[in-house]
This record gives sequence, C-alpha cells and structure tokens, in this order.
Amino acid sequence: MKWELRGKTAIITGASTGIGKALALALAARGVHLGLGARGQAELESVAAECRALGVRALAVPVDVADPAQCKHFVDTCVSELGACDLLVNNAGIGMWARFADVTDLSIYDRMMRVNYLGAVHVTHAALPSLIQGRGLIVAISSLTGKTGVPTRSGYAASKHAMQGFFDSIRVELKDSGVDVSVISPGFVATDIRKKGFAANGQPLGDSPRDESEGATMSLETCTEIIMKAITRREREVVMTAKAKVGMWLKLVAPGAVDRIALRAVRERDGER
Ligand SMILES: NC(=O)c1ccc[n+]([C@@H]2O[C@H](COP(=O)([O-])OP(=O)(O)OC[C@H]3O[C@@H](n4cnc5c(N)ncnc54)[C@H](OP(=O)(O)O)[C@@H]3O)[C@@H](O)[C@H]2O)c1
Repeated sequence: MKWELRGKTAIITGASTGIGKALALALAARGVHLGLGARGQAELESVAAECRALGVRALAVPVDVADPAQCKHFVDTCVSELGACDLLVNNAGIGMWARFADVTDLSIYDRMMRVNYLGAVHVTHAALPSLIQGRGLIVAISSLTGKTGVPTRSGYAASKHAMQGFFDSIRVELKDSGVDVSVISPGFVATDIRKKGFAANGQPLGDSPRDESEGATMSLETCTEIIMKAITRREREVVMTAKAKVGMWLKLVAPGAVDRIALRAVRERDGER
C-alpha cells in the first residue's frame, strides 16, 4: 500500500542543491510541508520559495549538521513551526577524491564523519519523538560506497558504511514503533558533489573537466523518481543500479572481482590511471 503524502511534513538536510533540492521540489509537488536545512542560506531560501509556490509551507533553516547543537535547533525549529515531522531525509553530505597515501590534510576524515554520519545521527535523534508520534519514515541517503570500498573515497566510504550500520541498527530497534527506515544507495548522480568534495590537500576539488551527464552517471530526475517511489512504498533499502545489485551478490562469492569493478569504475569516471 502506498503511503499518502499529501498534508504530511518532511525535514530534509542538504536541501539547497542537488538531490536534496530535487526531493524538496518533488515532495512539495505532492503536497508535503517542508523544513529545509543546509549551510547556504540564500540558496536554501530560494528552494523554499520555489516550494511555497507549489502551495505548501516551506521553512529555510540554516544548519551546519557537523554541529550537534545546530542539528537540535534545526529540528526543533522545524517541528515547532510545522507541528510535526512525518518524514526525515538525512541527505546532507560531502565527498572526497584522493588516494589515502596522497592525503596531506587528515582532517578531511574527521569532517566527513561529522557531516555524513554524525550529522545524520544528531538530526535523527532530535526528530525521533515526532517521528514516533506520527509513525513516520526515516530516509538515509547513503551511497554504493556504503556497500563496498572504493579507491580514492576511503573517508567517504567509511562515513557511508557507518551510516548504513547505524540506520540498519535503529531500524530493528524501531520495529514496533511504526517508524520505518529506508537506506538509499545511489551510484554516480549528476550533481555538483564532486566540485565541492575534498582533494588530498583538504581543499575543494573545484571544477572538473568531466561532463556529469556522461556514461554511467544517473540523471537527477531519475534518482529523484527512484527515491520518491521508495518513500511512498516505505522501502527498507534501495540499491540504485542493476550493476550494483549484481555486485552485492558477487561480493559474497568473489569479493576481489568487486574490488576490480570498483577500481575500473573510478578510473573511467575520474580519468585516473
Ligand atoms: N551525486 C552523487 O553521485 C551521489 C552518489 C551517492 C550518494 N550521494 C549522496 O547524496 C547526498 C546529496 O548529495 P548531492 O549529490 O546532492 O550533492 P550536493 O549537490 O553537493 O548537495 C549536498 C547538500 O548537502 C549540504 N551540506 C553539505 N555540507 C553540509 C553541512 N555541513 N551541513 C548542512 N548541509 C550540508 C549542501 O549545502 P551547503 O553546502 O549549503 O551546506 C547541499 O545542500 C549526499 O549525502 C551524497 O553523499 C550522492
């Protein structure tokens, strides 16, 4: 049975650009009232305005999810203004593109855990009472990198593996509460995540010569459609590509083959040799 979304309330982190923004607009179009968070206030305000134009309430609340106090303030503000949180989408995230041996600024490992993993932990903890009250849904936007190790993504993979373990665990704890937990693992999606991700020196990678619409990259529209379907079905897990689904099985019987596939994918994708 499909979950009726109209009139529900959702909180989304990382809603100013990319997947978070696309989900905010898709949920607004389905009549969901929104609490939107990210650091960039102007971009967030503009997304909230686009959502309001679709006829829903939409709040833009600046938050750095790496700061636990800000996570609590963000969720409390959204819940008190909107009256509830039926759906929480933990989407805020940052990436990295560097081999471990080349990394000169190890603080990127700390930052990645604080944003991708601990940010989701703190936001979820603050939203839990309201989610339980409304028998709601928690969505974690993880990654295929949360399923298997990927070269040049070691810190990112660690944070997404942590996310997967955390949300798999609380899914079991919440079984009798009526709250469902959905872990979504996209592959390459056409967003600006690569430009903002860390290089070996801890600085953002910046513009890449790569065309994001190329090859194995999924369009933002397709990714959003898949996530929206998972939300309405309250699916426990989505592994986004057919190749990755096969890879999950292969990892059980031939893990070395999956390592080679991951290496080849990163070489093709990032032009590494
Ligand atoms: N694109 C892909 O290929 C891909 C693949 C698999 C998984 N994912 C996951 O999908 C999620 C969304 O990524 P995206 O591709 O849409 O990237 P994106 O366009 O760079 O969006 C990232 C969002 O997270 C926010 N954010 C970053 N750091 C934050 C912080 N400290 N506090 C609060 N918000 C923060 C950003 O806003 P501000 O910078 O303004 O804070 C932005 O709204 C991430 O969790 C990512 O790991 C992406």
